[in-house]
Amino acid sequence: MQEFDLVVRGGTIVTASDTFKGDIGINDGRIAALGLRLDGRDVIEAEGKLVMPGGVDSHCHIEQLEADGSVHEETFLTAGISAFAGGTTTVIPFAPQFKGEPIAAHFGDYQARAARSPIDYAFHQIITDPTDSVIGTEIPALIEAGIRSLKVFLTYDPLHIDDRQFLRVLEAARQWGATVCVHCENYDAIRWRSEKLLAEGRSEPASHALSRPKVVEREATYRAIALAELVGQPIHIFHVSCAEVAEEIARAQRRGVKVTAETCPQYLVLTAADMSRPDREGAKFMCSPSPRDAGDAEGLWAAIRAGTLDVISSDHCGYSFAGTQGKWMNGPDADFTRIPNGVPGLAARMAIVFSEGVVKGRIDLNDFVRLTATSPAKRFGLYPRKGTIAPGADADLVIWDAEKRVTLNNGLMQHAIDYTPYEGLEVVGWPIGTIARGRLVMSEGKVSVTQGAGKFLLAGVA
Ligand code: URP
Ligand code: ZN
Ligand code: ZN
Repeated sequence: MQEFDLVVRGGTIVTASDTFKGDIGINDGRIAALGLRLDGRDVIEAEGKLVMPGGVDSHCHIEQLEADGSVHEETFLTAGISAFAGGTTTVIPFAPQFKGEPIAAHFGDYQARAARSPIDYAFHQIITDPTDSVIGTEIPALIEAGIRSLKVFLTYDPLHIDDRQFLRVLEAARQWGATVCVHCENYDAIRWRSEKLLAEGRSEPASHALSRPKVVEREATYRAIALAELVGQPIHIFHVSCAEVAEEIARAQRRGVKVTAETCPQYLVLTAADMSRPDREGAKFMCSPSPRDAGDAEGLWAAIRAGTLDVISSDHCGYSFAGTQGKWMNGPDADFTRIPNGVPGLAARMAIVFSEGVVKGRIDLNDFVRLTATSPAKRFGLYPRKGTIAPGADADLVIWDAEKRVTLNNGLMQHAIDYTPYEGLEVVGWPIGTIARGRLVMSEGKVSVTQGAGKFLLAGVA
């Protein structure tokens, strides 16, 4: 009888389409067989546990370079540790481009940082300055090399692009065969609201939500879809915060426009009221789009069930609360427009989706796998190498205790950030083992990684 390098034995195997009891045989980091009574030189007993594809977090900011020269605190090394702690085995962060510079100005540096990653990764390429040479030379070269996802911001100083620039990026993506991910908020509307709020002396973190109400996101989502429709280019919409925005996407999908979209845990469990917490703590919950109101999460779950939203990513952002790189980097009296946006969530993502989704009966187990692993892998050209359990796929697995009750705290996140916005949240269901390309990288919360062991994944390469 064949002996495998490793067998994960007796668990309930869950994919996006099936749930069955069995063993997984692994050779050379790949799944070699699914069956019963498989033999291995190493065996991990998973009886009574779920065995699911390792998570694919298709939107996370890791060691992100910002236009002011600063770099997020979360490095590829610490992010890998945090991801493994939470059951995620693939991440897709963002290579930067800044206005006035070619893509090449920072690409090599970002690649060098990523080369230290312990976790497999792909890149989205941010486009902030679609000059003739970016459009005509750099984008085609990237796509040719297997980086087939471009990211644009319709808001933020100094990242945003205008509609004409967006159209040029869409056209290049269409011509060369890339997808385009979009941050949808109306830049001028947010500026106009922010100026008014500041003039009224409302500079505190809670004003963040008031500066960018739902309609600001809804308008930009509608516009992004319309422009994509004009060019005939598929787009993927990031971090949808509420049902009103999801409805714009659903309407386009019904017309046959090729638009897909994600939401994130922060929109499922945080609210705008969190930004009113005392002692400047509101900054811990500031992300864009803003968390909405209690009750809005139910509309997102409905959109998830309807298939309008089919990816849940973390949008992990590496800003601590304290320190010179953190939320108050611009001083203790910084107004809300000068507090960096984004919340950390790499390790919490899967547990929150499982607990809020599966345990509370809003989605089933197969939906959970689809949302956290299979769909993101498919959307970004990594499937079937990533995002499923099948012979030939990378042996990226998470062993899940569906009954374990955990109160989230910052220690459990194992990231470089000094807080989690989910502190105190009770979840049911927790990863107790993570296997990355056949290596046990987390067991009962203990993570062991090798710097540089992560592979750079190119879209469409099995
Ligand atoms: O607030 C957020 N989401 N910050 C991260 C950057 C982005 O918009 O994705
Ligand atoms: Zn964004
Ligand atoms: Zn983001």
